[in-house]
Amino acid sequence: MLAEPRLKTYQQQIDARLDALLPSDSEPPRELARAMRYACLGPGKRIRPILTLATAQATREQEASLALDWGCAVEMVHCFSLIHDDLPALDNDDLRRGRPTTHKVFGEALAILAGDALFALAFEVLSTSGEACGILARACGARGLVAGEVEDLEAEGKDWGADELVRIHHRKTATLLGAACELGALSSAASLTLRSAVREYGQALGMAFQITDDLLNETANSEQLGKAAGSDRDRKKLTFPSVFGIDESRKLAEEWRDRALSHLAPLTGDVQLLRDLALFTTSRSA
Ligand code: IPE
Ligand code: IPE
Ligand code: MG
Ligand code: MG
Repeated sequence: MLAEPRLKTYQQQIDARLDALLPSDSEPPRELARAMRYACLGPGKRIRPILTLATAQATREQEASLALDWGCAVEMVHCFSLIHDDLPALDNDDLRRGRPTTHKVFGEALAILAGDALFALAFEVLSTSGEACGILARACGARGLVAGEVEDLEAEGKDWGADELVRIHHRKTATLLGAACELGALSSAASLTLRSAVREYGQALGMAFQITDDLLNETANSEQLGKAAGSDRDRKKLTFPSVFGIDESRKLAEEWRDRALSHLAPLTGDVQLLRDLALFTTSRSA
C-alpha cells in the first residue's frame, strides 16, 4: 500500500500477534474459532493497528510494549464491525477482502456470534488498563461506531444533509481511528495534550478515510476493492458523493487529510509515518 519499509514489518507483527491472541482452530467450539480467525486474519490493510504502532513510535515518552496488543484489540473491534456491517440485516454484502463474507461461509448465526466474541476478546486484551478500555469503549458504543451504523441505516433513502452525513461518518469510522491513535499515545505514557492531538489527528484522518471509501464505492470496481462496488448507490446510502458529487468530495477528503496533518504539530518525535498514512488515506485505490 505504501512504500514505507516499516509498514511491512508492522503488518507482519500485527498478523502474528492476532494469530496468537485468537483462539486456535482446534479450540472448541471449533466453528466459532474458525469464523473468528477467518474474519480477523483475512487480507485487510491493518490501518488501525498500524496507526496505534506509528503513534506509539511518534509520541514515545516511555519505552512500552503494549502498542502491538492494543492495536490488535482495535483491529478485532474493526473486524467485528465488518462482519456485522455485511450481514443481510445491515448492508447485505457477499464479498469482503476479496473473499465471501463471514456469514456466507459460516452462516448468519455463527457470524453474529463470532463478531460478539471478537468484541469481547478486544476488551480482554485491553483489560490491564482501565483507561485503555474506556478509550475503546467510548469509540465503539452508543456514541461511536454502533451509533454511526444505526444512523447509516436510518439515512438510507432519506433526504438528509451534510450535517447528518458528517456526524454519521465521524461516528461509524472516525471515532475508532481516533481511538487507535490515542491508545498508541497512552501505551507510550504520553501527556494528555499529546493524547488529544493524536486523537484529533486520527479522527480527521478517519473522515478522509471514509470519504475516500465512499468515493471508491462509486468510482472503482469490485475486483479492485475486494468488496462490492456501486452498492451505496443501489442502497441509496447517504454518502459524500451523493450529497456533494465526486469532485467536491475529493476536495473535502483532502481538507480533512490536511486537518489531520495539522494536528501533528505538537509532536516532537518521528512523525514521518503518520504523515505518510494521512497522505495514503486520500490517494489509496483500495
Ligand atoms: C473498511 O475499512 C470499512 C471502513 C471503515 C471504510 P478498511 O478499508 O480499513 O478495511 P480492511 O480492514 O482494509 O479490509
Ligand atoms: C464502514 O461502513 C464502517 C463500519 C463497518 C463500522 P461501510 O458500510 O461504509 O463500509 P464498507 O464499504 O462496507 O467497507
Ligand atoms: Mg455500512
Ligand atoms: Mg458496508
